[in-house]
Amino acid sequence: MAARAGIVVLISGRGSNLQAIIDAVNSGRLPAEIRAVIGNEPGAPGLARARTAGIPTHTIDHRDFATREQFDQALMRSIDAYHPRVVVLAGFMRILSNAFIDHYAGRLLNIHPSLLPAFPGLNTHARALQSGASHHGASVHFVTHEVDGGPVIIQAAVPVLPDDAPETLAERVLMEEHRIYPKAIGWFLAGRLSVENGRVLLDGQQRPEQGLQRDGPEPLP
Ligand code: GAR
Repeated sequence: MAARAGIVVLISGRGSNLQAIIDAVNSGRLPAEIRAVIGNEPGAPGLARARTAGIPTHTIDHRDFATREQFDQALMRSIDAYHPRVVVLAGFMRILSNAFIDHYAGRLLNIHPSLLPAFPGLNTHARALQSGASHHGASVHFVTHEVDGGPVIIQAAVPVLPDDAPETLAERVLMEEHRIYPKAIGWFLAGRLSVENGRVLLDGQQRPEQGLQRDGPEPLP
């Protein structure tokens, strides 16, 4: 039997998206093997989740390296030892060097807590609230040199409610993150995704909304 497609997951913290991916693999919804979880923060709770699931973990602390490039080289060596088909950023809060991004071009995925291109960067939930947006959400995208700017694979939208605080909105978005990330990884590993003119096609088809692939329970305005 052919080996299952390998995934390496990079995390910095809590690891709830990692947990969603572990659960999807364990339930058979995501036919893949998580070969390793690598974190840059010693003691990140996500590393404990991985160990509980019997997945090898590594900590590579960025503070141990003089430059971003040296840290990224160490990260690449660690990842490549597992020969993954896809590298999954799941709350990995480091800007990656061009050398790293080029090395994994076309097989490096990220999840971002906003409906990109809205709100790249940090504090997305507070910024969405401040903007008065009626909807907010999450995006899974291919990583390119532009931070939070690569082709979007799938998005999920949630309504912004009148009494939302950043925390309550974040919680609603996170539920959707956990749903769409394993799905996007599964599409990738099944060879169903392609990128044409900076847009992602699923089974050769562009989905509505000018290529933004929304997949939420709520209709968008
Ligand atoms: C998630 O909300 C993820 O979208 C976000 O960090 C959180 C990690 O949570 N990522 C980014 O902001 C990347 N720019 P988790 O550790 O529980 O998965």
